[in-house]
Amino acid sequence: MQLLDGKHTAEEIRKELAEAVQERKKNGKKIPHLAAILVGNDGGSLTYVGAKVKACDQIGFESTLIRYDDSVPEEILLAKVRALNEDKSIDGFIVQLPLPAHIDEMKITQAIDPKKDVDGFHPVNLGNMVLNLPGFLPATPAGIVELLKRNKIETEGKNCVIIGRSNIVGTPLSIMLGRNANPGNCTVTLAHSRTKNLNEICRTADILIAAIGQPGFVTTDMVKEGAVIIDVGTTRVDDSSRARGWRLKGDVDFDSVAPKCSFITPVPGGVGPMTIASLMINTLKAMELKGK
Ligand code: GUN
Repeated sequence: MQLLDGKHTAEEIRKELAEAVQERKKNGKKIPHLAAILVGNDGGSLTYVGAKVKACDQIGFESTLIRYDDSVPEEILLAKVRALNEDKSIDGFIVQLPLPAHIDEMKITQAIDPKKDVDGFHPVNLGNMVLNLPGFLPATPAGIVELLKRNKIETEGKNCVIIGRSNIVGTPLSIMLGRNANPGNCTVTLAHSRTKNLNEICRTADILIAAIGQPGFVTTDMVKEGAVIIDVGTTRVDDSSRARGWRLKGDVDFDSVAPKCSFITPVPGGVGPMTIASLMINTLKAMELKGK
């Protein structure tokens, strides 16, 4: 078994982006500027947004964090999105999900200018992704594809089972890995909560991707010998042995599954850093698309 080290691969990407920033500076060009909107104090979201801001610092991008209380009215958030759409100093921005229940996430997502939608969640970008037209790819699926590519994992002709059909991971990833590309050309099965014989289907997977947010869901009886395992889950679970009282746990029962597979992503340090690296790639692209 080999670890698919997302932390290392993401560091490689950050170095490349930092060089691109230096080159831009030398040529007197604008430095990319990412803004992030964070609503509330959810621990996971705080961690992710913090990591995104830190990545900007490391690469040399500018970043702005905009925070609102849990109770922020939808109209205020929409007004901020519209202001960021118009703000010429901001090249791309994200609204960290999930949002509180009184806010319509789809309404907020649709209000973002597709040219600044570096998360790739706007229907225009998702549509472009489906048709393989230029646009922003959603960060987690793009990060997984990049991880497979940079670690030379063969995908052509492989059976790929994805568990979880979310708009931001499972559904776009099923399209990206099924298309005629490298990585790609997989035979993809998109499994979900109504799938029958899930264990049996998972055992057909040469590449098994778990994206359901249920810690330890994938167990050895669901894994084919020698499979490649990608774990998208990052749930906080209680851990009294840690000073902070919790640790991150993936959707895969790592300790029992790892000996059975050829490659596996750890949690943390697998898909998470690659998601952030993809967001950084999109941010540079957003600025380049403006011809700046
Ligand atoms: N919540 C979980 N993943 C993501 C992501 O990639 N982008 C945003 N904006 N919110 C998320």
